[in-house]
Amino acid sequence: MSELAILGGPKTRTEPYPQWPVWDQRDIDAVTEVIKSGRWGGYPYPGPKTAELATKFAEMQGGGYAVPMANGTVTMEVALRAAGIGWGDEVIVPAYTFQATASAPMAAGAIPVIVDIDPNTYCLDPQAAEKAITSKTKAIIPVHLGSNMADMDAIMELAERYNLIVIEDCAHAHGAKWNGRGAGTIGHFGSFSLQSSKTLTTGEGGILLCRTPELAARAASIIDCGRPHALGGGAEDYTQEFQVGGNFRLSEIAAALALIGVERFPAQAKEREAMADYMDEALSEISGVRLLRRDPRHTTRSFYRYIFAINPQEFGMEHDLLAGALNFEGVECWTGYEAMNNYTLFQPQKSKLAVPNAFPEYFDFENMELPEAERACEHEAVWLDENIFRAGQNGVDDAIRAIKKILKNAVELNDAAEELREKYR
Ligand SMILES: Cc1ncc(COP(=O)(O)O)c(C=O)c1O
Repeated sequence: MSELAILGGPKTRTEPYPQWPVWDQRDIDAVTEVIKSGRWGGYPYPGPKTAELATKFAEMQGGGYAVPMANGTVTMEVALRAAGIGWGDEVIVPAYTFQATASAPMAAGAIPVIVDIDPNTYCLDPQAAEKAITSKTKAIIPVHLGSNMADMDAIMELAERYNLIVIEDCAHAHGAKWNGRGAGTIGHFGSFSLQSSKTLTTGEGGILLCRTPELAARAASIIDCGRPHALGGGAEDYTQEFQVGGNFRLSEIAAALALIGVERFPAQAKEREAMADYMDEALSEISGVRLLRRDPRHTTRSFYRYIFAINPQEFGMEHDLLAGALNFEGVECWTGYEAMNNYTLFQPQKSKLAVPNAFPEYFDFENMELPEAERACEHEAVWLDENIFRAGQNGVDDAIRAIKKILKNAVELNDAAEELREKYR
């Protein structure tokens, strides 16, 4: 019998890794309190739980004026609109990200301009971003991917030089710090997702950190059907005029759950970070594995997903085989997003969406050259789930044992590769 679970052998880890999200009586009590209060929804905005969440989240990230809202996609659309960016403006986004980073500009009427990544961090390459700047460029959306951060010094320098708005996509970066400053507080905006897989979650939700109270007031107005909002996001002092907006408010029930998440977050983040350090050490001894660069300016790492790279020639197999086999060994992982130009979800030019139809020259995906993103997405990247880092040293040891077992049986796995790809496509 094969030693490999994917070929019928025994699993390396038989006990499941801890579930996510976690909950206890505090969550039940918090939701019960809101239900009994009768104030369930987000109107009038902000409700008491939402206002408390705004304060506590800004404290947790270390700055900004927080506007909680429906998810971590509209946060970016709203940021662009609050900054006055819209029809025909260009917004630079990295090629390696979830499709929301590029669909949000389109929802605001702007054109996503896709640029390559830095192979050392898998985050937006500031040099590629600079080459893409034109007189129409109005914003950059760097994504802090997995557990890494984009080079915020270089990006803010570009922003100053070319007068651009920076929206940090922090969907993966709750609690992360760059030079001691919280992710999302360095650019003009920080966009956070509280969707159920995220390290701070309320099922569905998002928070936009804004650099100034004026931007926060505009954002609060846009998500509250255009109602005027006071500077700082307060609801009483209607000092502005009505504008066109939508309903992207967060419900009070969701805000109450997020508040418990904020309480729990520091201990969880600490545990993940310690175990990730341990994982770094163990992985660095495996030949063919390349750890992504740990920039000394990235002073606190946060772990939505732990991403490492393999060199397929040296490692002896492609990343899809490793990730597939690891899942069968009981270690949850995947090969990550596709490069934006190949992303099956992201084919707006095939739709009737206004932006790709009006500006088709920006959506010629087949002719885009994004070699670093393509190499990461097609050959190198392995994304380990965060729950591996909440299972103690034993959790990391099991993942490492599984990788070593797969390596030891590489010949057998490669021989079966074609059949396996066909079977599990
Ligand atoms: C990098 C990135 N940006 C944005 C989003 C969008 O967040 P949401 O699902 O809350 O809209 C996600 C994940 O869902 C993401 O991973």
